[in-house]
Amino acid sequence: MRHVVITGTNRGLGQALLDRLAADAGTRVLALARSFPAEQLEHPQITTWPGDLADPASLPDAGELAKFFVGATETVLIHNAAVVEPIGEIGTLDPDELTRAVAVNLTAPMLLTNSAVAARPHGVPLRVVFVSSGAAHHVISGWSAYSATKRGGEEFFTHLSASSTADDLITAVSVNPGVMDTGMQAEIRSADFAERQRFVDRHARGELRPPAVVAAEILAAALPRPSFSRRS
Ligand SMILES: NC(=O)c1ccc[n+]([C@@H]2O[C@H](COP(=O)([O-])OP(=O)(O)OC[C@H]3O[C@@H](n4cnc5c(N)ncnc54)[C@H](OP(=O)(O)O)[C@@H]3O)[C@@H](O)[C@H]2O)c1
Repeated sequence: MRHVVITGTNRGLGQALLDRLAADAGTRVLALARSFPAEQLEHPQITTWPGDLADPASLPDAGELAKFFVGATETVLIHNAAVVEPIGEIGTLDPDELTRAVAVNLTAPMLLTNSAVAARPHGVPLRVVFVSSGAAHHVISGWSAYSATKRGGEEFFTHLSASSTADDLITAVSVNPGVMDTGMQAEIRSADFAERQRFVDRHARGELRPPAVVAAEILAAALPRPSFSRRS
């Protein structure tokens, strides 16, 4: 059995990833989110964990993750949830929004990973997938918080890979999903920053990819398994 922990599953890419994971008979999922659609609450393969990723006290700790991992032959942790706000020039950022962005995009993935590594059953592989962004590697005016937290996350997971145990059972990968048609892009189009029109135009040209298509690609590439690769 593959036991997967995933964050931010109530909409967007996270919902698409969860739909696909839960459709696989050999997968059990622990979904961490602030709310859940009815079909997730009722799904026999999904365990829901209500929590705010900005609040470390609401995250499962190592003992709680260890209980979820019982019986697993593979364990996976997917850091999907993120916020793009605050968007704005440094000096004008709202301190609470800035603190929240770091907590959701960077602190929560680090804390959950620390717990998952401790919780991993002896001899069972752990694969960590960090959903990053192209913004981790170039400057978009006004996106300092988002870029910095994604870059910081990538660095953390590079360290995890580099310091992997001698048996190589812990692996980590950062993935860039590209531009998708989700609520995050709607927020970007309604924000005030220099390159906004570029995002409006891409949307108008129909260039945003459906999250279900991106989810299928991420799972096929990051968690190769015949049952995920076969279905498009
Ligand atoms: N959309 C794009 O074009 C794009 C491009 C590159 C990378 N990405 C990355 O892809 C991933 C998914 O993005 P998306 O487009 O699907 O974003 P989205 O539509 O804005 O969805 C974000 C998800 O994160 C959750 N979340 C946010 N704050 C949370 C908190 N404090 N506690 C718990 N959950 C929280 C949201 O839940 P709530 O409903 O509770 O807020 C939602 O489920 C993100 O890591 C994003 O950075 C997206």
